[in-house]
Amino acid sequence: MQVYVIHENPDWYPPIEAALRAEGVPHEQWLLGEGTLSLDDVPPHGVFWSRMSASSHTRGHMFAKDHTRAVLCWLEAHGRRVVNGRRVLELEMSKADQLVALRAAGIDVPRTVAVAGRQQLAAAAAAMPVPFISKHNQGGKGLGVRRFDSHAEFTGYLASDGFEPPVDGITLLQEYIPAAAPFITRAEIVGGEFVYAITADTSSGSFELCPAEACATGPGAVREMFALREDIDPRIPARYADFARRHGIGIAGFEFIETADGRVVTYDVNTTTNYNPAIEAIAPRPALGQVARYLGRLLAEEQAGLPVGVS
Ligand SMILES: Nc1ncnc2c1ncn2[C@@H]1O[C@H](COP(=O)(O)OP(=O)(O)O)[C@@H](O)[C@H]1O
Ligand SMILES: [Mg+2]
Repeated sequence: MQVYVIHENPDWYPPIEAALRAEGVPHEQWLLGEGTLSLDDVPPHGVFWSRMSASSHTRGHMFAKDHTRAVLCWLEAHGRRVVNGRRVLELEMSKADQLVALRAAGIDVPRTVAVAGRQQLAAAAAAMPVPFISKHNQGGKGLGVRRFDSHAEFTGYLASDGFEPPVDGITLLQEYIPAAAPFITRAEIVGGEFVYAITADTSSGSFELCPAEACATGPGAVREMFALREDIDPRIPARYADFARRHGIGIAGFEFIETADGRVVTYDVNTTTNYNPAIEAIAPRPALGQVARYLGRLLAEEQAGLPVGVS
C-alpha cells in the first residue's frame, strides 16, 4: 500500500518525494492532465493526496483540473482516503468559493464582487471605491492580480490588448487592503495543525509571491523575499486550523494582511501549497516533514483497517 500524489507539475515533486522517502513512506506520483480512466476499475488501496493546482492551465495542462475531478469522484465513490479531495479541489479552483467559506466562518475577507464575463466588468468596477484589486477567480501565482488607483485606469485596461481573460471567465474585483507594513503572512496548516508562518516582502509591488523554488525568477530572488515569522498571534492560525478541519482540508497555506487599523484580512487559501526550501532549511519543524508524517499516519490507519492479507 502506498501514498499516491496527484498533481500535474513534475517540477514540484522532488522535495515531496525526498520528504516521503526520508520518513519511509512508500509513494508514487499520478500525473494528471491527459489519460484514460476506466470506470469499471477499482482503485488501489492507499492514501491519495491531491495537489492539483489552480494554475495548471498556465503550464499547458488545460484539462488537468477536470481530469482530477473525475479521478477524485472515482476514488471517493470507492471510499478511498483522499487528502484534499473533491470538495477541496473546488476551493482551490475558486477564490470566490474560498472567500464565501471564510466569511461564513467569521473570518474577515476583502469586500469582493465576482464578475462572470467581460461585459459587466466596467459597471461593476465603477461601483468599487479606489484603489481596488482585480484578480482571476481561478488563480495562483498572482494571475491577473493588478491594482487600480482610478476607474479610468481600469476602463483603459479592460479595453486594451493587455487584458488578461480569466480561464473560468470570472474576474474578482476586490477591496485593496493596505498593509500596516509591506509584507503579507502565510500560515501553513498540515493535518489540522499549525506548522509555521512566513512573511513575503511586498515592498517591490509585485503580486507574484509563489514561495516554491520552481517559481523563482532569478538566483536568490525567492530567498530574500521570504522570512519565518515568529511573532504571529496564535489565535490567527488556530482559526485557520479550525477552518481546515471543518472543510476537510488536510494541507493548506492561508494568506493574510494586517492593516494599520487592526484588521486581519484573509484573502487566499492555497491547498497546493509549496514550501520555500530556504525556509524549510531553517524552520524548527519543516512543513514537508510534517506532511510526510501525516500521510504516513493515514497510511498506517488504512493498512490497519484492511482485512489481513489485503494490501
Ligand atoms: N485585496 C488585496 N489587497 C492588497 N493586496 C492584495 C489583495 N489581494 C491580493 N493582494 C496581493 O497580491 C498577491 C497575490 O494575490 P492572491 O489573491 O494571493 O493571488 P494568488 O492566488 O495568485 O497568489 C497577494 O499575496 C498580495 O500581496
Ligand atoms: Mg496567494
